[in-house]
Amino acid sequence: MSSPLRKPLIAGNWKMHLTLAQSLELARAVRDGVGDAASEVALCVPFTALALVAETLRGSRVRLGAQDLHWETQGAFTGEISPVQLVDAGATMTIIAHSERRRYFNETDEAVNKKLRAALAAKLVPILCIGETLEEREAQRTFKVLQTQLEGGLKGFAPVDLAPLVIAYEPVWAIGTGKTATPDQAQQAHLFVRKTCARLYGEGFASGCRILYGGSVKADNVDRLMAEPDIDGALVGGDSLKAASFLRIVHFQAPAAAR
Ligand code: PGA
Repeated sequence: MSSPLRKPLIAGNWKMHLTLAQSLELARAVRDGVGDAASEVALCVPFTALALVAETLRGSRVRLGAQDLHWETQGAFTGEISPVQLVDAGATMTIIAHSERRRYFNETDEAVNKKLRAALAAKLVPILCIGETLEEREAQRTFKVLQTQLEGGLKGFAPVDLAPLVIAYEPVWAIGTGKTATPDQAQQAHLFVRKTCARLYGEGFASGCRILYGGSVKADNVDRLMAEPDIDGALVGGDSLKAASFLRIVHFQAPAAAR
């Protein structure tokens, strides 16, 4: 179970799914089912659904997030969305550097660094995604990859500026595949990420930084994952599209022995 210094966060990533009508229905169901869950809860929805879902979530404890942003505040960047526009639409968080963006849209650590800076400047809580591919894991390069992504993405900040940062460890081989990292594999990676954060920005920052696990988190594996000491929540793709399974994840129960 995560340290009391860190409030667990369960964030849904809807990716490129759902019409507006379906978004409304799902957002309402999550809003109405969240109850007194111990964790913070967020929905990261497509840009086109932000304003509508913001209305639905207004006054509730479910936070609204985007899935990406551009680093400029405005300008001639056809097709992009700025941090100012995200805040205007009601978002308070944003995913950055999801592996699908790194892989299909060639997002580099340099771009990720700019996006992180822009999100923090706009007071958006960034969820920075990092993770290795299967090939990299099999070549024993997992820690090296995580280190490079963290050093590149987090370059040049003052520790105080990074206070709101959330990191999501998402092994690429576990995303959308039904193959979850074992709790032990995830814990090892999370501990490495926390130690790297401590080396880069000090123990104080590292012990307060929430590190989420993502990659086939489901109703039937969340409890075991959340029992690990360095897993502070989950970034949920597929199972965030069904209210019942997402709400079961939100109301996870870490085994008593680990408390
Ligand atoms: P998944 O996606 O839960 O469908 O594996 C997780 C993610 O991509 O954030």
